[in-house]
Amino acid sequence: MFTPEIVSALEEARIVAVLTLEDPALAPDLGRALLAGGVRVVELTLRTDRALESLVAMRSACPDLIIGAGTVLTPDQVRAVKAAGAAFGVAPGCNPRILSAAVAAGLPFAPGVCTPTDIEQALEAGCTEMKFFPAGTSGGLPHLRAIAAPFAHRRVRFIPLGGLTLENAPDYLREPSVLALGGSWIAPAKTVAAKDWSTIEANARAAANLV
Ligand code: 3PG
Repeated sequence: MFTPEIVSALEEARIVAVLTLEDPALAPDLGRALLAGGVRVVELTLRTDRALESLVAMRSACPDLIIGAGTVLTPDQVRAVKAAGAAFGVAPGCNPRILSAAVAAGLPFAPGVCTPTDIEQALEAGCTEMKFFPAGTSGGLPHLRAIAAPFAHRRVRFIPLGGLTLENAPDYLREPSVLALGGSWIAPAKTVAAKDWSTIEANARAAANLV
């Protein structure tokens, strides 16, 4: 269940950079490179030991960035990312326990879905915005169209993630059910580790220019 504020921010930005950070010291420069390239929304995944610290560091260095937490897999993580100042949370799957924890914590949340059953569960928990994951291997745009059709009248919208690229993003962006999309291609972990901020800024600009 996203808030109207998060929905509007995503409607405007449409691009989400998926980040996996090993070193919180890199978070400020990374955030600045993304903003300089025109990317304002990120999903910072909880896939490293120092993800929460990275979230806090990025937030304080880049107040203009809308920082969501990704790979939120437990109720404790829901509470921890809320306390760390995440603007929203997403998960790879649709876990009713996580969705209840998100409601209780007041964390706008989009579960991951790739089947009609997932979508029904998410709807039942009050979500109309969902992460379509893994977009590429679960069937791409044809699959999204097929699973979205029965729920269009419920105004369900999707954020395709997983296997997206600068090349295939334009087709997804034209799809009416697609709220926003993104991926790790904008700031790959290797490029971040190399502190290659100019490449990340250029990737961000190329992605933002698709919109
Ligand atoms: C995510 O968490 O959204 C995905 O891992 C991003 O997938 P990608 O690395 O294929 O962009």
